[in-house]
Amino acid sequence: MQVVADIAAVRRARHADPSATWGLVPTMGFLHEGHLSLVRQARRDNSRVGVSIFVNPAQFQNPDDLATYPRDPERDLALLKQEGVDLVWTPPPELVYPPGYQTYIHVEEVSRPLEGAARPGHFRGVATVVAKLMNVFQPQRVYFGQKDAQQVAVVKHLVEDLNFPLTVVSCPTVREPDGLAMSSRNVLLSPQVRPHATCLFRALQAGSDAFAQGESQAEALRAVMRTVVNATPMARIDYVSVAHPETLAELDVVEAAAPRSSRGAALLSLAAFVDEVRLIDNLTVGEPACAD
Ligand code: PAF
Repeated sequence: MQVVADIAAVRRARHADPSATWGLVPTMGFLHEGHLSLVRQARRDNSRVGVSIFVNPAQFQNPDDLATYPRDPERDLALLKQEGVDLVWTPPPELVYPPGYQTYIHVEEVSRPLEGAARPGHFRGVATVVAKLMNVFQPQRVYFGQKDAQQVAVVKHLVEDLNFPLTVVSCPTVREPDGLAMSSRNVLLSPQVRPHATCLFRALQAGSDAFAQGESQAEALRAVMRTVVNATPMARIDYVSVAHPETLAELDVVEAAAPRSSRGAALLSLAAFVDEVRLIDNLTVGEPACAD
C-alpha cells in the first residue's frame, strides 16, 4: 500500500497502469466498519482502490468541532492495509487549501434543507473537497455511505452537473447490533448515554412500519418518529423529515415509486442530540421490488 501526501504522487500512482480501474473512497479518517464496507465494495468493483484521509476544514462551521474531530491515523492505515487498499492520500490542509484559495462549489437546491439548513455552508465544503478529490484521483467510481443520504444526493448532482466521468456508488448504512448507525461520532457518546442513541433507528423503524401498514400521510409518519425520540431520556430532536429521496423536498403524501424505478417512495430522516452529541440517520421506504 502506497501512502502519499502530494498531488503529483497520487497522479503518478493513478496513471501507472493504464488498464487499471480505480475506485475512490473519500474519508475523514477514524475509520469504522462503515468505511471498510465501502472499501470492500470498491475492491469488488475495481482493480485498484484509493482512499483519501482528510479532515476537511471547509465543511466544519464550528472550529471546536473541527478541533475535536476524532483522529487515529496509524490505526486507519493499518486497517486499510489489511483491506488490500492500493493507495492512500493524506494531504495536509495547506495543500488542499493553499493561501489565496478561493474556489468553492455550491450545489444549490439539494444542499438547502435538512443538514444544509442545520449546518449552513457544510455542503459547500463537502462539494468542494469531493470535487478536488475526484479531480486529483480521477477514479472510475467513487463510494459513499447511504447514512449520509443528503451528501450522496449532493455529490450525485455535482457529478452530473459538472460532467465528471465517473459513477457515484452509494452503499447501505452499516449498523451496530442494536441498530445504531456506525459513525465516527459515536465515540463521543458516554456509556451512560450510548443505549439511548438507538432512538434514531427505532424512530425510523416505527415510521417505516407505519408506512408498511398503510399510513401515507407524511405528517403522520413524522409524528410517529417524533414520539419515539421524545420518549427517550436525554434525546432532543433537531429535525424529522419525510422527503422525496432525490430532491429531498418535504412530502405531503408518500406515493409508491414506479415499479421499475431506481428509488424508493420516501426518505425518512432525522437528526437528534443525544445528550450533547448530534446524530443523524435515515431509512428509505417503499423501495420497488426487484424486477424479474
Ligand atoms: O463523509 C465524509 O466523511 C466527508 O463528508 C467526505 C465525503 C470525506 C468529504 O470530506
